[in-house]
Amino acid sequence: MSEFVRLEVKDGVGTIWLERPKMNALNAQMQGELGEIAREADARDDIAAVVVYGGERVFAAGADVKEMATLTYAEMVSRAHGIQAFTRELAAIGKPTISAITGFALGGGCEVALATDVRFAADNAKLGQPEILLGIIPGAGGTQRLSRLIGPAKAKDIIFTGRFVNAEEALAIGLVDQLHPADEVYAKAVEWASQFVGGPALALRAAKGAVDRGLEVDLQTGLEIERAEFTGLFATDDRTAGMTSFVENGPGKATFTGS
Ligand code: CAA
Repeated sequence: MSEFVRLEVKDGVGTIWLERPKMNALNAQMQGELGEIAREADARDDIAAVVVYGGERVFAAGADVKEMATLTYAEMVSRAHGIQAFTRELAAIGKPTISAITGFALGGGCEVALATDVRFAADNAKLGQPEILLGIIPGAGGTQRLSRLIGPAKAKDIIFTGRFVNAEEALAIGLVDQLHPADEVYAKAVEWASQFVGGPALALRAAKGAVDRGLEVDLQTGLEIERAEFTGLFATDDRTAGMTSFVENGPGKATFTGS
């Protein structure tokens, strides 16, 4: 039973709620719960897409600094895999995922947002990787996912300085994808996620896998990944339904079953 992370499922959309007052600081327990719930969201057939949300006030202010403050080097050596694991498990959800960001998304909180496919932010959002101010660097994927998303120069500026990026700048540099008033950002994210309910789940999973795994390899290998995913979809009922429906009734009218 999770204490700090909750999975709520409504009309095909799963919301992963971050719930650890006051700032959703991600202690080791919460990191483990988040990874476990991400795996559940990936596996459940009643979830077509996932929203990650920290509530109306704050997304997450990062790993729990108070918990980390007394750890020795040797202790961190054995914990560091777990710190990367929860964002890896979020990123591995084979369904469309989106973060709805209000207030602070810092350090591990920003890294949670980076592990989803898309980010909608409230106009009061402040994102950043302030680890450098603690004498460390991002450890939950930030150096890798931020630089892949916004490019190395902008990522280095944010990581080297530890400065906070406001909502307008985050939108301008592609760190977030849309801005909304704070009290609307969750509903907008749910609306985005809802588009995929009743969609061709296997094709969506294949599309996400091809993009994400393709970004990690050279172009030729990426094209091989695409070819394998593309070809594999010809074994699905959804591909038969999609193409038969197109031929008989025109575009966009197919009913998919996710099989
Ligand atoms: N860990 C533990 N506690 C935290 C926290 C964190 N990351 N962020 C905030 N808190 C706590 C504060 O200590 C404070 O607790 P008390 O009320 O018990 O004193 C409470 O939350 C409220 O915080 P503030 O009083 O500081 O509130 P503020 O509005 O003045 O500032 C803030 C908010 C800008 C988020 C500020 O608290 C802050 O800078 N937090 C730390 C952010 C940070 O450094 N994040 C990176 C963590 S390291 C990491 O994430 C590594 C990784 O890659 C995985």
